[in-house]
Amino acid sequence: MVIAIDGPAGSGKSTIAKKLAENLDFTYINSGRLYRAITLGCLRANIDTKNSEKVIEFAKNIDISYEKDTVWLGDEEVSALLHTDEIDRLSSPLSAIVPVRYIVNDIIRSLAKDKNIVVEGRDMTTVVFPDAEYRFYLDASADSRAKRRFDQGVSSLTLEEIKTAILERDEIDKNKIEGSLKIADGVKYFDTSDLTIFEVYDKLKEKIY
Ligand code: DC
Repeated sequence: MVIAIDGPAGSGKSTIAKKLAENLDFTYINSGRLYRAITLGCLRANIDTKNSEKVIEFAKNIDISYEKDTVWLGDEEVSALLHTDEIDRLSSPLSAIVPVRYIVNDIIRSLAKDKNIVVEGRDMTTVVFPDAEYRFYLDASADSRAKRRFDQGVSSLTLEEIKTAILERDEIDKNKIEGSLKIADGVKYFDTSDLTIFEVYDKLKEKIY
């Protein structure tokens, strides 16, 4: 079974997807982490993430593994390095490079093969798993998403700067040639702005059980 969840940054989808996967004993796949890991790999290899040709070449040959929400580049576990302000900023335009999306989608499909999964991202309900048994779209206002990120205490930006960065990423994510963030027909839509994580979890669970 596939449970697919899409939504913008800060909508709560990672927390919810992870919690659902744990409780259902499903495999959790966070597709954003793959884009982030490719971004980190490019930075380390001194590849300008705006140089599509170089990024594509790099992504084709990348030695990336993903298991249980943990990402490795080669032998190095890089999960803890993927949520910096720089990678937030650079992974969005990198993920707009269409061949990179195909590479990531292939990785996700092979991770999902013959498994029960909860998978989340921007195009899981539309491109990668349009026939998923359950499809959800989690949304929230830019203000509440910025506040959530600010409260995590991992960003060096001010609340207002975080909001601006989130809106910039939304703009890129919604206007991609391929895999753009959109509310697909038939998905179950929830605005999580004024809900706690527990309330969101209960709402999704109600639809699944
Ligand atoms: O979900 P996230 O913020 O960790 O994702 C990082 C970036 O990758 C984000 O800018 C959007 C992009 N992304 C995407 O284009 N498609 C996905 N399925 C997941 C993430």
